[in-house]
Amino acid sequence: MNHARLEKNIGLLALMMVLAISVGGLTQIVPLFFQDVATQPVLGMTPRTALEVEGRDVFIANGCVGCHSQMIRPLRAETERYGHYSVAGESVWDHPFLWGSKRTGPDLARVGGRYSDAWHVAHLTDPRSLVPESVMPAYPFLANTLVDSTQTPRKLQALRTLGVPYTEADIEGAEAAVWGKTELQALVAYLQGLGTLIKDRP
Ligand code: HEC
Repeated sequence: MNHARLEKNIGLLALMMVLAISVGGLTQIVPLFFQDVATQPVLGMTPRTALEVEGRDVFIANGCVGCHSQMIRPLRAETERYGHYSVAGESVWDHPFLWGSKRTGPDLARVGGRYSDAWHVAHLTDPRSLVPESVMPAYPFLANTLVDSTQTPRKLQALRTLGVPYTEADIEGAEAAVWGKTELQALVAYLQGLGTLIKDRP
């Protein structure tokens, strides 16, 4: 009887549907905020170096995330190609996350160590020199642009506020650590650190 009334009242039905979906969604999402597997870094993880933090900003500023995801899904086709699927503990110190959703190019979640530094430099300067059919833009200007080292300590400080365990020494040494480095060097350092903690295929 009550159910018949619910089904015939479109407003009430819509309200109940929103309620049901919200409760269902929240029971899945809220517990994750408190589970170690989603909030603790994977074993052996250390915060990015100052140079890698700058490289990550170069990655963001140049729109790399628009063509490259950093999220290997637990599907055979992905793990065969890219390696172990991404786990939450690898991203707990990433602010903001760069998981992405567009793959014009390959996923980069485990690109660290896959190529040499020299390969990356040549590829970023002119992708078609290595991959003739590549549609990736060239970024030759990165080699001519210095990282603004005066901002680096403040970036580490900001990340620490968000829970990344940088020490006083890390922050004090940040400016010197990136002084005189080019954006290209920073970007390559960042890429080489991506996903290296988990190597095995599942
Ligand atoms: C318009 C889309 C596009 C943009 C923007 C782009 N890429 Fe790419 N990228 C590609 C494509 C397509 C490939 C595959 C062909 C190749 O290797 O050049 C690729 C390949 C790569 C590879 C090799 C990955 C592998 O596993 O072989 C790296 C590393 C890379 N890109 C880094 C970057 C970085 C860093 C940026 C930003 C500075 C960037 N890409 C911007 C499309 C893009």
